[in-house]
Amino acid sequence: MAPLAKKVLLHYGGGSLKRSGIYKEITSSLRENGVGFVELGGVVPNPRLSLVRAGVELCRSEGVDLILAAGGGSVIDSAKAIAMGACHDEDVWDFFEGNASAKNALPLAVVLTIPAAGSESSPVSVISNEEKKLKIGYHCDLLRPFASVVNPELFFTLPKNQIANGVADMMSHIFERYFTNTAHTDLTDGLCEAALRTIIKNAPLLMDDQRNYDAWAEIAFSSTLAHNGLLGMGREEDWASHRIEHQLSAVYDIAHGAGLAVIIPFWMEYVCGDNAGMFAQFAMNVMGAAPSRDIEGLAAEGIARLRAFFSRLGLPSSLCDFGIDGRDFEFMAKNATGAAFGAEKPLGGLKKLLWQDVLEIYRLAV
Ligand code: NZQ
Ligand code: ZN
Repeated sequence: MAPLAKKVLLHYGGGSLKRSGIYKEITSSLRENGVGFVELGGVVPNPRLSLVRAGVELCRSEGVDLILAAGGGSVIDSAKAIAMGACHDEDVWDFFEGNASAKNALPLAVVLTIPAAGSESSPVSVISNEEKKLKIGYHCDLLRPFASVVNPELFFTLPKNQIANGVADMMSHIFERYFTNTAHTDLTDGLCEAALRTIIKNAPLLMDDQRNYDAWAEIAFSSTLAHNGLLGMGREEDWASHRIEHQLSAVYDIAHGAGLAVIIPFWMEYVCGDNAGMFAQFAMNVMGAAPSRDIEGLAAEGIARLRAFFSRLGLPSSLCDFGIDGRDFEFMAKNATGAAFGAEKPLGGLKKLLWQDVLEIYRLAV
């Protein structure tokens, strides 16, 4: 069979790919199959625009016709941005700021090394502009990888804090779809609840044994499904928690999943009065609360049980755990809603949040 490309860009992060032996396997396979490649490592968590720009230049000068991303969400997102930037004259940041829209992108294949962000199945790239202290996502179907290898054995080397961060992130991708005011969503409610229960059952097994193949298989399949679009079909999605967290990652460079573990329960408490029934359903069908007629009480119990689950995984529960004080909160809240650019769009679907609401959630989270 002829190779899919003449020249591949192999894109990866810090040291883990080489330490785990995956780098050697991939490069040997490319050589054995006569596929030429250039490489660009060094992607950091909260992937930087400067490396994306370097990748775009490399693709152009080397005539790259396919990108192979080997890593987690940061590597895959960086690869997506390079794939898009290499096919356009505009500066790649223009897409993220909404000043350009992609018409083409290089094909992208993925070898996933951490189930978390779901980028292996999503059409989204999230990039940090280190100069502007902004982290923004760009959504376009051209960015979805055409193939992703999701092999549980590649996750055995993950440290426990990365496993926990990933679990919080994959759960949040389901929450962003599950908590909605849309009616008649029985099927996707059930799919979301099954995926969440699967994650809650299997994540503690990984905390005991990072080499538990079966638990990884359950978790990784849930994570990929969580973000490929299926669970949001026919529902208004929310995404306020993500927009609120991305500003934390942009300003403080914290891990996305760890930031979400703090923000999500506070967001839930802030919005649940607008649809307590949905939160009561979550408490019973996902968090194992006993049925009761006290809908508000059930909603609160579900959130408390989620907090306890996160803390059992060792995740943070307050922004104080990162040493964050309130200094930048107004800047971040205004960036999150667009108020900083004079184009405020309220966040969320379940409850619309203005920048003042976002500020309040940051304050509550300290
Ligand atoms: O850099 P290396 O040395 O490879 O270490 C990485 C990194 O430090 C390490 N790691 C990855 N695989 C490993 C491993 N260590 C040991 N063994 C392995 N097998 O894990 C660390 C975290 O990697 P990263 O790629 O940053 O993690 P994740 O997959 O959680 O990605 C987070 C990024 O994805 C974005 C987030 O905002 C964040 O920037 N997201 C992307 C989305 C999308 N494109 O659809 C949606 C998400 O909501 C999210 O926003
Ligand atoms: Zn996420």
